[in-house]
Amino acid sequence: MQYKLAEKIINPQDITNLIGWLKETVQYTKGELTVEFEKQWAQWIGTKYAVFCNSGSSANLLMAYTALLGGDLKNKKVIVPSVGWVTTISPFIQFGFEPIMCGADKNNFGLDVGHLEELLKKHDPAAVVMIQVLGIPSNIYQIKSLQEKYGFLLLDDACAALGAEYDGKKVGSFSDMSSFSFYFGHQLSTIEGGMVNTNSKKLYDLLLMLRSHGWGKDLDSETESAFMQKYGIDEFHKPFTFFVPGFNLRSTDLNAFLGLEMMKKADEVSTVRMENHMVYAQNLKTVDFQKWNNLSKPCSISFGAIAKNVAHRKRIVTQLVKNNIETRLFSAGNLGLHPFWFEGYGKFNHPISDKVHSCGFFLPNNESLTKKDILYITQVVNKSYD
Ligand SMILES: Cc1ncc(COP(=O)(O)O)c(C=O)c1O
Repeated sequence: MQYKLAEKIINPQDITNLIGWLKETVQYTKGELTVEFEKQWAQWIGTKYAVFCNSGSSANLLMAYTALLGGDLKNKKVIVPSVGWVTTISPFIQFGFEPIMCGADKNNFGLDVGHLEELLKKHDPAAVVMIQVLGIPSNIYQIKSLQEKYGFLLLDDACAALGAEYDGKKVGSFSDMSSFSFYFGHQLSTIEGGMVNTNSKKLYDLLLMLRSHGWGKDLDSETESAFMQKYGIDEFHKPFTFFVPGFNLRSTDLNAFLGLEMMKKADEVSTVRMENHMVYAQNLKTVDFQKWNNLSKPCSISFGAIAKNVAHRKRIVTQLVKNNIETRLFSAGNLGLHPFWFEGYGKFNHPISDKVHSCGFFLPNNESLTKKDILYITQVVNKSYD
């Protein structure tokens, strides 16, 4: 038996359904399925709007550029998390923001609220990117109250937190814009794919235009007409007039088809992953791991654990590999210790982010693992302590 970090969530029935659809359809991209998936996703997360694109990284790129064009930013400073993913941060570097790194919370490894407030006082940034590390909600209400106190655009990288909840609502529904990833091995997958959610019509319209070249074709007809009138565009020029300098970050209707298949099992998958997570938390004895409070319902991609020290992690990893249990570094550790960051801004150190970097590792969580499997994995980890 091999215990894999990621298992296929797209099952044979999904593929059969997809093949059936492919034989019938005439519209492979920019079709109704994309719109339907966006509608169902927005509803599931609990926001007014959602825009489907081709990866979580593209979702972050769209979110960052939309913030720049439409976020009424007071400056180009942005606070970014140290534990997350490179593309949580890289769009801001690419668009000429000044990124300021924040340490990780000692419990959930999201933004450390104390450090965040220090940075807000010192830099008065226009935007903050919070993060839901591996599907464990961060201190969302505390971050929201800082937003009220200091005034900034709140973005949320929820790429790894599909289905996680905070105070009875899905994460990704608390910010001005949030991003999700449907990469293979995530809670729900469209093979590759991403989504940006928002409640703002202004930001939604910009997201739609920026996703597709900058044209107005994907806007509702009233909004598109308003743009045409504003710029005096006639009917012949209408489909190929570019209102903003856009990208092409679209996905296809094939991927949207898979997304709609995912929606059918989204609640069930979230429950299984949450239950698996609890089995780990209740049975791991010798390692630390992300904590959550009673407002939070985790839905993890993998179980993120922290060994006592570097040597302990080495022992655990050796035992895991010996027992056919796949493992890896905890996300990317501390992003402030990667060349993409320190070549430009210097090394970033913070006790929790550094601990994640040097002692963190992943244990498998996916919906095909049983309670028995997880108990076996916890035994292997527990035994690696001396
Ligand atoms: C927090 C976070 N943000 C962004 C991404 C990027 O998503 P994608 O791989 O779909 O580009 C990931 C990928 O796992 C992630 O974990």
